[in-house]
Amino acid sequence: MPNSPTRRTDVDADWSDLRADWDFRPGVTYLNHGSFGPAPAAVRAAQADWQRRLQSNPMDFYVREYEEAYFAACERLGAFVGAAAANLAFVENSTYGMNVVAHGFPLAEGDEVLLTDHEYGAVLRVWRRACERVGAKVTSAKGTTATLPYPFAGGEEGLKAVVEAVDRAITPRTKLLVFSHITSPTAVIFPAAELCRLARERGVRVCIDGPHAVATLPLALDALGCDYYTASCHKWLSAPLGSGFLYVHPRWHGEIEVPVLSWGRIQPATPERWSDELVWQGTRDPSAYLSVPAAIDYLDAVGIEAYRERTHFLAQYARRKIEELTGREAFVPDDADWYGSMIALPLPSGDGPALQRRLRVGFGIETPVVAWGERRYIRVSCHLYTTTADVDHLVASLGICLRDEA
Ligand SMILES: Cc1ncc(COP(=O)(O)O)c(C=O)c1O
Repeated sequence: MPNSPTRRTDVDADWSDLRADWDFRPGVTYLNHGSFGPAPAAVRAAQADWQRRLQSNPMDFYVREYEEAYFAACERLGAFVGAAAANLAFVENSTYGMNVVAHGFPLAEGDEVLLTDHEYGAVLRVWRRACERVGAKVTSAKGTTATLPYPFAGGEEGLKAVVEAVDRAITPRTKLLVFSHITSPTAVIFPAAELCRLARERGVRVCIDGPHAVATLPLALDALGCDYYTASCHKWLSAPLGSGFLYVHPRWHGEIEVPVLSWGRIQPATPERWSDELVWQGTRDPSAYLSVPAAIDYLDAVGIEAYRERTHFLAQYARRKIEELTGREAFVPDDADWYGSMIALPLPSGDGPALQRRLRVGFGIETPVVAWGERRYIRVSCHLYTTTADVDHLVASLGICLRDEA
């Protein structure tokens, strides 16, 4: 059994011993935890234990052990994200959770679903399809989205500008506001509580797309004021791939309709509450869900605050070094209220996919180069195994690539 990591305090000390808990291929500098967050050894071992238990007697496991373990894991997750377990259900990933919300959401012809101009492409597709089915509309194509101010101003003024931009985009037909807690292409932390307050005042429900916020931010979902929250634990929490959750506020429990219908629960075979429908989704390997507590234990052992400070320190280090290299400033204030463990930096215009390929093939660096709006960005994710030397390697390699492009 792998050791649990020791508690950390100094954010700028040498944490490189933690890299031994991950298992990267030699020669890879992995700076994309934000897309696919690999799990440390202790979490992989916990998952292997669950799988061994399952395989040693599937009948006993599924019929007699699974549900108790599922609800215990749900309780632990609830304590971590500030939600009653009764308001949570495990799902494969954020995408699945978003589809559950879209499947049962009461949309009618002429209704509108509002997204911001920073949303994840697959989320946009989910809501486009839900709208097209009933003659509703996603207000998200360019020009009709809640186009947010660019760059973001700091402090109260910056928050107000975001809230006002969303406010202006809400119409009497808007039924739902969907926004990322932390955005994918641009890595911005949105003011979730303020946006929820606005939506409530305007009589609009809110669905937050939160996969980047789990572990990055302290969450208190029951207090946040959202109606739905979808997330993946296989990003920043480093739980096994295929572990996500859906939060639904109690006022909408009766309305949830799952797209994949099975028994709901094994015992009793009839579901008694909304989340029961997601407990048994047909025979599948639930070990990723059951290992979420092990992922929380891992970060707890390091110290969750220290984890946040350390990864923000590294993201800030990357920000400053890349700004220095390109002469272009990030468009979020240099403030932990606006970005956490991940930062997106504008690059001179050029071929994004070609740059991403060259960084990987030429220098062993895995990090996305994304197009957003008219610009090209490099997005850098920092986790416990990341070191300033990794960032220096990225900056030196990026410098060579940009010089060759010029
Ligand atoms: C903002 C955002 N939402 C949703 C997703 C989808 O997450 P998953 O693939 O785990 O469902 C991602 C993935 O990167 C994302 O960045």
